[in-house]
Amino acid sequence: MRKLIAGNWKMNGSLAANEALVKAMLDGLGGKVPASDMALCVPAPYLPQLAGLLQGSPIAWGAQDVSSHESGAYTGEVSVAMLKDFGCRYAIVGHSERRQYHGETDVVVAAKAQRALAGGVTPIVCVGETLAEREAGQTEAVVKRQLAAVIHAVAHCTSEIVVAYEPVWAIGTGKTASPEQAQQVHAVLRAQLAAATQHPERVHILYGGSMNAANAASLLAQADIDGGLIGGASLKAADFLHIVASAA
Ligand code: PGA
Repeated sequence: MRKLIAGNWKMNGSLAANEALVKAMLDGLGGKVPASDMALCVPAPYLPQLAGLLQGSPIAWGAQDVSSHESGAYTGEVSVAMLKDFGCRYAIVGHSERRQYHGETDVVVAAKAQRALAGGVTPIVCVGETLAEREAGQTEAVVKRQLAAVIHAVAHCTSEIVVAYEPVWAIGTGKTASPEQAQQVHAVLRAQLAAATQHPERVHILYGGSMNAANAASLLAQADIDGGLIGGASLKAADFLHIVASAA
């Protein structure tokens, strides 16, 4: 399977900065087919801009969240149909920052994943343990609980999701899980997917958490690491392209 390298810009960017960043990425690719599939998950207001800049390029685009509701009186929410209107291929759901700062529970995350799939957008489902949970020996239990909620909700469509293992203690901290630590959790997730779908090998399981140009190759060389979800390093064209090339 081709690896998938997805950028998560988080709440960063401006019209001018986005244009410069995307143009630098496209220039860097120089019209060649990238070594892995690529996507950029950007703040919702910039989706039309990204659609314009990336149309016809090998880089897909997506959102960082999606409503669990279809439409109606949900002030501030963005529906999957709206994401589709702007050509989104992906929507991140259940990022730890949303779980932590916006109170998103496993049930809410699962509903978002289900809504995204039903609307034709691939959810990138984030799971991951906090430092306290890791130190208490609960890593496996936590990520399995988080993924189980999503599998329960999407049922026979499980092979169509993307999973991202993002240990909370590694996000934006410069502390990466070692390739062995990450692989261990990815293998657990793959086994869980295998019990739920006939095609667990079709599910991309991305690693995220301080993945950068220097450590990407060793992480991406692991058997069950099928790509990356990249925060900070996706804001620098050269670093992001280096990670994409490391996936080869
Ligand atoms: P980071 O973020 O690469 O900056 O650690 C990853 C993420 O939160 O998706």
